[in-house]
Amino acid sequence: MGKKVIVTGASRGIGFELVKQYALAGHEVVAISRNLSRLEFLKKECSRLNSKSKVHVISFDLVDGDFETDLMPFVSECFDKVDILVNNAGALVVKPFTEISSEELERVYRVNVSSVFKLTQLMMPKFSEEAHVLNISSVGGVQGSVKFPGLTAYSSSKAALVGLTECLAEEYKETSLSFNCLALGAVQTEMLEEAFPGYEAPTSAKEMATYILDFSLTGPQFYNGKILTVSKSTP
Ligand SMILES: NC(=O)c1ccc[n+]([C@@H]2O[C@H](COP(=O)([O-])OP(=O)(O)OC[C@H]3O[C@@H](n4cnc5c(N)ncnc54)[C@H](OP(=O)(O)O)[C@@H]3O)[C@@H](O)[C@H]2O)c1
Repeated sequence: MGKKVIVTGASRGIGFELVKQYALAGHEVVAISRNLSRLEFLKKECSRLNSKSKVHVISFDLVDGDFETDLMPFVSECFDKVDILVNNAGALVVKPFTEISSEELERVYRVNVSSVFKLTQLMMPKFSEEAHVLNISSVGGVQGSVKFPGLTAYSSSKAALVGLTECLAEEYKETSLSFNCLALGAVQTEMLEEAFPGYEAPTSAKEMATYILDFSLTGPQFYNGKILTVSKSTP
């Protein structure tokens, strides 16, 4: 049966491909990001792939937007219950440690951590009994992984997302909800190009989206509170 899915960071990269694949497979999606024209293009792409696709798009800023007054009423209009929340939106700053401003640090943490905290919190009453919250982190946020200079704000925020996932799984362990986190390696997207110009990733956004979609549906059978590294590149 078709699932009711929310995907953040849907305007490009992995999120864009993910929404297309959910739509193609007959799932209903609320797609969130700031860039409305890209979201409208995404919606058109989805109906081209599946004329019966149900994709609802909303331009919403995870940093400055008002979750209670702008985002949640939209979600409630689309869905009575939500089966899958993919916290995929991400923000990056690539700069030497001493040059990262407070504003840049705050923006990265608000997109990568606080907005996930807030959205998941507000979604709790709307989750179906066996809902799956899937957080998209990075290999750089995993303890003991290879680290790269310039990514202190980004990678430490992704480590916070790893911790948040584990805490949520513990706090809700008596329920049927699942909380998991995929720590991705290099995927060919605009974000990667910004972080590592000229680097060619071994995995495309489309390939990674296929994996994420499958894991979002089947993962809870085997995993809860787990951080899985999905990477062919860094150890
Ligand atoms: N690509 C990689 O190699 C790689 C590796 C490890 C982990 N990841 C993680 O995978 C996820 C997807 O990455 P990607 O490479 O596809 O990134 P991307 O191409 O940069 O896309 C990021 C998405 O997040 C959205 N976003 C950013 N700031 C936002 C804000 N303030 N409010 C709402 N939406 C916002 C962007 O939409 P708007 O600009 O339209 O708002 C965009 O759709 C991220 O969490 C990233 O950290 C990626």
